[in-house]
Amino acid sequence: MSDVLVHTEAGVCTITLNRLARKNSITSAMYQALADGIASAEADTGVRAVVIQGHETVFSAGNDIADFLDKPPSGEDAPVFRFLHGIAGFSKPLVAAVCGPAVGIGTTLLFHCDLVYAGDNAAFSMPFVNLGLVPEAASSLLVPQMLGYHRAAEALLLGEPFMAEAALEVGLVNRVVPPSEANALAQAQARKLAAKPLSSLVETKRLMKRPRQQAVREQMQAEAAIFARMLTAPAAREAFGAFMDKRKPDFSGL
Ligand code: COA
Repeated sequence: MSDVLVHTEAGVCTITLNRLARKNSITSAMYQALADGIASAEADTGVRAVVIQGHETVFSAGNDIADFLDKPPSGEDAPVFRFLHGIAGFSKPLVAAVCGPAVGIGTTLLFHCDLVYAGDNAAFSMPFVNLGLVPEAASSLLVPQMLGYHRAAEALLLGEPFMAEAALEVGLVNRVVPPSEANALAQAQARKLAAKPLSSLVETKRLMKRPRQQAVREQMQAEAAIFARMLTAPAAREAFGAFMDKRKPDFSGL
């Protein structure tokens, strides 16, 4: 079975991360499939809303670290950036269902979704600093805007996880439900959206996003340049090596 499933029914395109054995960590090939899924949903007039979901035990462990080392993203055309630009500029409603760990891009992609439903087991984390990296997906702009600077610093500098209730409180999540209900709730909400006039949805979303659209684009570019540079620097090499060797990283002197 494919690691990314794409299925359209009743005007809703559902994209499912389906790599449970690796905690839905995302490889370059999966980013490609995700970017393609988003691009066809954008172009297909039969698609009126998109749901991104994982499994009720895990949303995503973020980048597949081994694959990431093997095929580091190079340039704006890299599959990960195609996917991120695809969701950041997606014109139709984007709904997410999140249960269990949502690490790195598993959390940052949510800032580009219109509605987010979480299982009560959801744990959001953005441990970019712990990996010797910097945030992506304009999260260095959007996280402080949504959480406030100090809570954002806890999430982005300390890399501390926060749970579903905290995400609800800051407005990252619309509703918290038992994990077995999250995907169904996202689907039901997407179907409600799919029954509304698409032109009105698209124009309303465009108006809501307009004030910070340019800033998001610029921040993503700035992050990507620094991210690419830091990926090969000693801190990231130590962090990734430690992950592969299943040991604690040693950042002393870095
Ligand atoms: N990249 C590659 N492999 C990963 C992975 C990732 N991001 N996340 C998990 N895996 C692998 C584990 O190495 C493990 O492989 P193994 O069975 O060969 O030992 C397998 O998936 C199961 O993961 P495990 O850590 O045992 O599951 P868990 O339920 O105890 O913890 C997580 C789940 C998501 C909390 C934990 O796996 C984790 O923190 N992963 C790394 C997250 C990360 O740093 N991502 C990068 C963000 S940019």
